[in-house]
Formats: sequence, structure tokens, C-alpha cells
Amino acid sequence: MKVLITGGCGFIGSHLVDYHMNKGHSVRVVDDLSTGRIENVAHFKDNPKFRFDEADIVTWPDLESAVSWADRIYHMAAVVGVYRVIADPIQVLNTNILSCERLLRIADQSGHKPRILIASSSEVYGQGLTAAFSETDDVLIEPAAHSRWNYAISKVSNEAFGLSYAQNKGLPITSVRFFNTVGSRQSGRYGMVLPRFIEQAVSAKPITVYGDGQQSRSFCDVRDTVEALDRLANQAASVGEIVNVGNDTEISINSLAELVKEIAHSDSSITHIPYEEAYGEVFVDIQRRKPNLEKFYRLTGYQHRWALKETIQDLVDRKRANKTK
Ligand SMILES: NC(=O)c1ccc[n+]([C@@H]2O[C@H](COP(=O)([O-])OP(=O)(O)OC[C@H]3O[C@@H](n4cnc5c(N)ncnc54)[C@H](O)[C@@H]3O)[C@@H](O)[C@H]2O)c1
Repeated sequence: MKVLITGGCGFIGSHLVDYHMNKGHSVRVVDDLSTGRIENVAHFKDNPKFRFDEADIVTWPDLESAVSWADRIYHMAAVVGVYRVIADPIQVLNTNILSCERLLRIADQSGHKPRILIASSSEVYGQGLTAAFSETDDVLIEPAAHSRWNYAISKVSNEAFGLSYAQNKGLPITSVRFFNTVGSRQSGRYGMVLPRFIEQAVSAKPITVYGDGQQSRSFCDVRDTVEALDRLANQAASVGEIVNVGNDTEISINSLAELVKEIAHSDSSITHIPYEEAYGEVFVDIQRRKPNLEKFYRLTGYQHRWALKETIQDLVDRKRANKTK
């Protein structure tokens, strides 16, 4: 199989590279290295089945030929992370909307129909109040427009493009709403909580919880994520669908800080920082973000293999051994 991965030097993208290369597939990656790292795929640089192009997917001249070549496309490239979303809201809209629009237009024009998975996000559920978000729930964008919501707006627009190209043009597209995904190579630089906690615990610095820490999240190990994505791509019934992808075990951020401290046997203190201080502006956080996974289980039959404690242990061990792979 020939697999094109946009954003393949990033966190989830590079694990998809590993997954497909390990299966003997041919993999092509396009990434502008804005948040991704070439080190994440460097172990394949001499492999003839692997090809990397450093380019912005919005303008990359080879996108037509790459799309025509591919049997499957994972569209992972996007401007991500709370810090970047707040710092450059226009870039979020430009990159995230235009890249997806261009990719699907070119796929349609190519005349062949590669299987396409588009990365969306649980952010589209906004401040919804349901205990576990379902794909049939309303998408919520705050009425008082705030640049923080541009990311969710861009992801809703990606889903809308995906649905429309699937329905009107017959392209085999599935949009996946990732809930918090964690694992090796995830960077803490752009606002992701777990890598930051691990770094702080291992270096015996205070573990900094933003807000009161009572907000909760559900974390899915990226090794589970990529296997589940492959199953979704292989499942014809997921074409034209939007599917939650994650793990539904919920934990508060306070408990996450305690768990990291315990697993790392760390002397770090746990401190709380107001959102304004953490993000430099008033910030609306979301209290709970847990997926309803009925559709995910029905379509994939997947059973998660990694519990959060195991993921944290793995990340602590890697940090101590200074390994990123
Ligand atoms: N990690 C999560 O928990 C999570 C949650 C929800 C949604 N997502 C979505 O999943 C996808 C992957 O996220 P990730 O966590 O791996 O982030 P990431 O930042 O590690 O990966 C994104 C990659 O896209 C690349 N990129 C950005 N703009 C580009 C452009 N214009 N052209 C080419 N490459 C470009 C970056 O350099 C990076 O390698 C993103 O679309 C993100 O919105 C992730």
C-alpha cells in the first residue's frame, strides 16, 4: 500500500509513519516542520520505501502527484496547540482550512479515489455539557467570538469539506475527532499537558496545573490511536462518517499531576497557576472532555491496549533515558 501522511513529522503523524513502514508499506510525508521534527522520522531516511518533502501543504507543487500516487491519505497537518492558536489565529484559519480544501479538491480532480482520513478534534464540542460527547451532539462555537475558537471553527470546516466531498463526489473520506492523544514525541512546547508534567516531574521542578485542576480529560495512547485509525480506514462503513477517536477513561488534571508525580517518584511540588498567567490572556477552559465511543467500537471492534499508567511509565522512562523515539 502507498500512504501519504501530511504532517507526518508531527506527533500522531510520525507514529502513523512507523505503523505503516513496519507493515512494509511505502510512505510519503509532507511537513513544513513548523511543530514537527525531522528526528521523528529520521530512522527511515535511508529506507527506499520512505520519502520526505519539507513543504507547506497549502502551496506544495507536488501535492497533485503525491495524491495521485497514494492509496491512502492521512491529513494530519494543522496549526495545533493552545499557545499557537492564541498567538496566531489567522494562521490557524488559513492553514487548517486551506490545506484541507486543497487536498480534497486535488483528490477529486485526480480521478482516482484514495482513502482519506481527516484529523478533526474534540474541540468542536466546545463547552458542551454532556458527560460523554457523541458524534450526534451539537457542535458548539461560542457566541462571543474569541480567537481560541478559530481552531474549532477550522476543524468543523474540515469536517464539512470531508462530508461534502464524500456525499457529492464519492470520495472515501472519514473525519476523526481526536480526543487527547498522548505518547512519545509529543511536545509540551505548544500547551500539551502531559509532556509538560513529565518534564517537570523528572527534573524535580514544580508541576504546574493551570486553573483549579478540577477540569478533566480522557487520554488515549498514540499506539492505540494509530492502530484504530488503520481499522477505521479499512472499514467501508466509516466512509462519509465522523468518528470520535480516543479513550473514555476520565481523569482530573489534579489527579493526573498526582499520578505523574507518583509514577516518576518525584519530589516536585504541585502548584496552581491562573489561566491568565499561563496563557497571557483570559482563557475559557473546558471542564470535561470525554468521548462516547459507541460508534468507534462498532466500526473498529478495537480494544485499547495501553492504560494511562503504562503510558506515563513509558514516558518517564524515555525522559530519564533521554530517548525521543
Ligand atoms: N494530539 C492530540 O491530542 C490531538 C487532538 C485533537 C486533534 N488533533 C489533530 O491531529 C493532527 C495531528 O496533531 P499532532 O498532535 O500530531 O500535532 P503536531 O503539531 O505534532 O503535528 C502536526 C504536523 O503538521 C505539520 N504542519 C503544520 N502546518 C503545516 C503545513 N502548512 N504544511 C505541512 N505541514 C504542516 C507540523 O509541522 C507538524 O509536524 C492535527 O490535525 C491536530 O489538529 C490532535
